[in-house]
Amino acid sequence: MNNFIFQNPTKLIFGKGQIARLSKELPKGSKILVTFGGGSVKKNGVYEQVTAALEGFDYQEFWGIEPNPKVETLRKAVEICKRDGVDFLLAVGGGSVLDGTKLIAAAAVVDTDAWELVCNPKLYGGTLPFASVMTLPATGSEMNRGAVISNLATGEKYAFYNTYPQFSILDPQTTFSLPPYQVACGLADTFVHVMEQYLTATDIAPLMDRWAEGVLQTIIEVAPKVRADQTDYDAMATYMLSATMGLNGFIAMGVPQDWATHMIGHEITALTALTHGHSLVVVLPAVMDVMREQKGDKILQYGQRVWGITEGSYDERIDKTIAATEEFFRSLGLQTRLSELNIGKEVAEQIVLRFKERGTLLGENSNIDYLTVEKILNQRL
Ligand code: NZQ
Ligand code: ZN
Repeated sequence: MNNFIFQNPTKLIFGKGQIARLSKELPKGSKILVTFGGGSVKKNGVYEQVTAALEGFDYQEFWGIEPNPKVETLRKAVEICKRDGVDFLLAVGGGSVLDGTKLIAAAAVVDTDAWELVCNPKLYGGTLPFASVMTLPATGSEMNRGAVISNLATGEKYAFYNTYPQFSILDPQTTFSLPPYQVACGLADTFVHVMEQYLTATDIAPLMDRWAEGVLQTIIEVAPKVRADQTDYDAMATYMLSATMGLNGFIAMGVPQDWATHMIGHEITALTALTHGHSLVVVLPAVMDVMREQKGDKILQYGQRVWGITEGSYDERIDKTIAATEEFFRSLGLQTRLSELNIGKEVAEQIVLRFKERGTLLGENSNIDYLTVEKILNQRL
């Protein structure tokens, strides 16, 4: 097991009617900026619940943080924070609203431009405190330090790290209004988060393996229920908690991590606007196949424990496991080939060129170079 330090300070407030607790959790006497996306919260009753709980607080609203939040939009909120002396941020919406808010919170306390902060972590100079009401289970952003920020002008998309939300409120009832496509992408994103932290080598941290396999099995079990009835509270609650547990550090103790699928997926999204979770299901089967020599033992363990695959030669079992994984993604209603999504070879070539120019090395052993990325993407055309 690798050395690690674990500390996750986010207070998780989960369940029916919990948005009302905002009035107890928000710091009294603070100047709050409440951040929103494009308006889904006005259609599903979340906005009313939030504003009711905010009665008596000094707050203003910032609207329009888009999916794959753009730095161009976030800069406007940074201006407001600086101008009006905002000292607490509350994100209400999906992962994009919260990710964007994490950058606003960091950029509000320094003179550095927000995009420079994304590109150069050394410029990080602290943060305003922030919290969330999360309405889309997928990113785990409600209980992690990460944010993924896009730049409209340059077509780039990079991860940025701030501190953790002080608290996050998750009421599964808020997810009843999600478009089914977002649910499919959220289930896929959760699944792949676990895989990125799990599918490396065997016998490193057996407890983490069992824990990760438990989250994967839960997602596989609950996905058909969620897709059949999005108002099934217990199913949506299970999905929502799985998403949080998938990327809050609890399955990452002492293990190596991969993240190649995400890094390649982010480039697909940056160039084509394909939804994040959907980009991952295109990439992961090929990462498993191309990296089978390195990951083979772990793929076998995953195949056996998660999919019950025990028959066949070493390579046959790997093939069956990859097929089961891809079949699961397709059962969510998601296409898994670039050609099915009308994404052509020129996009794959551009991604490979980007990795070549940046000299990026991906994967748990930092050995996935641009030539390997090319092999991975060529498999998915
Ligand atoms: O903008 P509104 O109107 O609110 O609509 C949103 C948006 O159009 C809608 N939505 C959210 N909750 C809803 C709802 N519609 C109806 N009912 C609800 N309850 O869903 C659409 C997508 O929302 P978005 O926030 O973009 O989705 P998601 O939560 O999947 O976030 C995706 C972003 O997170 C990044 C991705 O790269 C992408 O930019 N990631 C962040 C991570 C992190 N912070 O740790 C890790 C992930 O791997 C991921 O990269
Ligand atoms: Zn993700």
